[in-house]
Amino acid sequence: MVYNSSMIAICNMEELGVKKDFTNIYTQKFPNAYLKEMKRLDYRIPNKTKPLYLSIAKQLYKKLSKKINIIDIGSSYGINSALMKYNLTMSDLDLPIQDLPQADMIIATGCIGYIGYKAFSNLFELIKKQQSESNLESSEKGTVFAFSVLRIFDMEKIQKVFDHYGYSLVKSDIKPIRQRRFSDSEEKYKTISLLHGKGIDTKWLEDDGHFYADFYIASPKILETNLVSMSEKL
Ligand SMILES: C[S@@+](CC[C@H](N)C(=O)[O-])C[C@H]1O[C@@H](n2cnc3c(N)ncnc32)[C@H](O)[C@@H]1O
Repeated sequence: MVYNSSMIAICNMEELGVKKDFTNIYTQKFPNAYLKEMKRLDYRIPNKTKPLYLSIAKQLYKKLSKKINIIDIGSSYGINSALMKYNLTMSDLDLPIQDLPQADMIIATGCIGYIGYKAFSNLFELIKKQQSESNLESSEKGTVFAFSVLRIFDMEKIQKVFDHYGYSLVKSDIKPIRQRRFSDSEEKYKTISLLHGKGIDTKWLEDDGHFYADFYIASPKILETNLVSMSEKL
């Protein structure tokens, strides 16, 4: 498993403003402060997305009959890769892991919003470059994307980027996944107001004091039937 966040651009989505700023713990040499704070806020979405990513990776492995490389964008300390590679849960974590090139699958957990449409554009350009260097069409390579997206974020621009590069991006039928507790009542109030402003009902979800995320998957349009069956098997 691999992660690579070097090509990511900053995205100034207005929705980010409702969230507490964790920049100081995202950028330290070691993940200790990050893990401590995420534990305090019950940030457990990586435990929930792990089986979803693994299910997709397994299906890809069967289809491609080869070892699957995964890029984890917005990975920071490589948490999601570590959970999958070493069959851990968040509470087992200690050290980040190393990165490697090329990917059959690209995942992103808890970071859409920081990572926006420009980052995906950059990523697709990189994929195109890799494919032209290896003389592969995207339909042959079939990079699969899977990521969680907090319900506060609008996916329209990201959706357009996927469409532009010939990819189908679909929201899975999985019910919203709990991401973490609100850090304080202000964060809760701002989040719920924002969702209500967008006409999104928060009853049974954010009203209980937590952020919730939807789960998205994407593949080249030409492989859309695989995408549907992958999504159904989650
Ligand atoms: C809530 S954390 C999730 C980290 C990891 N995916 C996980 O699930 O543990 C959000 C991550 O987004 C990363 N991030 C924030 N802004 C970013 C940017 N502009 N480009 C790349 N990563 C960014 C942070 O470093 C942080 O690791």
